[in-house]
Amino acid sequence: MALLRSKLKLMVTVMTINLFIVILIFRQSGQDKNGSDKVRVPSKPFWTKLTPVSAYWNLQQQILDIQNNPILLSNYSAAEVPDWLIAANLTSDPCKPNVRVTTQVKDYNSLPDRFKDFLLYMHCRSYPIVVDQPDICKTPPFLLLAVKSQVSHFDRRQAIRQSWGRAGVLANRTVVTIFLLGQATAWDHHPDLSHSLHEESLRHRDIIQWDYRDSFFNLTVKEVLFLEWIHTRCPGARFIFKGDDDVFVNTYRILDFLKGLSAPKARDLFVGDVITEAGPHRDKKVKYFIPESLYVGKYPPYAGGGGYLYSGDVAALLHRVSQNVVLYPIDDVYTGMCLRKGGLGPEKNKGFRTFDIEEKYRSNPCAYNSLMLVHPRTPQEMIKIWAWLSSPDLNC
Ligand SMILES: *[C@@H]1O[C@H](CO)[C@@H](O)[C@H](O)[C@H]1NC(C)=O
Ligand SMILES: *[C@@H]1O[C@H](CO)[C@@H](O)[C@H](O)[C@H]1NC(C)=O
Ligand SMILES: *[C@@H]1O[C@H](CO)[C@@H](O)[C@H](O)[C@H]1NC(C)=O
Ligand SMILES: *[C@@H]1O[C@H](CO)[C@@H](O)[C@H](O)[C@H]1NC(C)=O
Ligand SMILES: *[C@@H]1O[C@H](CO)[C@@H](O)[C@H](O)[C@H]1NC(C)=O
Repeated sequence: MALLRSKLKLMVTVMTINLFIVILIFRQSGQDKNGSDKVRVPSKPFWTKLTPVSAYWNLQQQILDIQNNPILLSNYSAAEVPDWLIAANLTSDPCKPNVRVTTQVKDYNSLPDRFKDFLLYMHCRSYPIVVDQPDICKTPPFLLLAVKSQVSHFDRRQAIRQSWGRAGVLANRTVVTIFLLGQATAWDHHPDLSHSLHEESLRHRDIIQWDYRDSFFNLTVKEVLFLEWIHTRCPGARFIFKGDDDVFVNTYRILDFLKGLSAPKARDLFVGDVITEAGPHRDKKVKYFIPESLYVGKYPPYAGGGGYLYSGDVAALLHRVSQNVVLYPIDDVYTGMCLRKGGLGPEKNKGFRTFDIEEKYRSNPCAYNSLMLVHPRTPQEMIKIWAWLSSPDLNC
């Protein structure tokens, strides 16, 4: 009898608890329903207040982001837009020197000249093209090799033509090679080599030149002009290699690598010698020095500018996205910033050796067989290594 009673008691307890849970769930779902079929309008803006950052590049990027996002400004009436946003509007031609930077960047006067030059012109991204090859991609190439060069580097360009950059058909794939140049100005005391360059361009028809001063900090200008050039002159290129004129590229290996890619991988391809967790150098003596008044924060992952490989689709993405990224004086970091803005990241590949290979392997032909890029190499070395790799006797 006692057993039955305690069993009954247990049953009642369990049922009570169950009922309680059911009621709880019911109430909960009732509340959810109540909340979710009504749009809740927050009483205050949910984004952070518009306060300007102090580093000049970061501020320019912030302004660009706000101007491209009307929602952020919708809360302000015309009279209420913060002064710093209005003041940021460039009044005239972005290619005229922007003298306001001289007061807006707090240590402007003590910065090295290359920063002053950069800051005065950083809003200008279009310069006239003076030598073009409008029909070079009439038949869209499988691989476009774009080499950053300078007017005086005739020997490097010729060595590239005779070795890894030979245009035509290689391993049954079409390859087009171009050299990207700016101007070697008298202002920088360069000798006038324009006649020789003209001759070279007529003979080889692979020179692209724009009318701007070719300096280290203007390599980003070269990058955006090149993206524009691909967009107009070579949108059909399947893959693009962009690199310096002092690297050796194993074009055979690159074509082989591309052949093995799956379709999605090929579409989003961006590979190189990727540097992660880097940031600006604050030591004035380093080539890559960047003052705090210009940039704060880390760098996104980026591929070292010696050379990287990407798809035509990524080139189109970079072209689009770069319009909304403020020019940064270091071109490979800039490309990393654009990739990030486009929602992609560069992928590291061990075949890209922008910091060279171990000394003991440098004269071993087989050391180059599985690599895609080695930096640095002289014109003579390029020709020598290419002959090794092209030899039918190569046995690795
Ligand atoms: C559910 O709706 C009523 C009436 O519309 C409202 O008073 C109540 O605050 C709402 N509850 C929740 C959780 O949104
Ligand atoms: C921002 O806009 C929303 C909706 O347009 C409005 O309800 C809110 O009061 C505004 N806030 C400020 C600070 O102006
Ligand atoms: C800046 O100028 C552009 C075009 O002149 C204008 O559309 C924009 O509203 C201006 N921005 C501000 C913050 O005044
Ligand atoms: C060469 O490439 C074409 C298309 O690019 C392909 O149709 C052909 O089969 C290839 N030939 C060889 C020998 O691989
Ligand atoms: C970039 O090129 C422009 C146009 O030639 C020039 O005015 C500017 O000084 C250059 N900038 C740098 C950093 O050399």
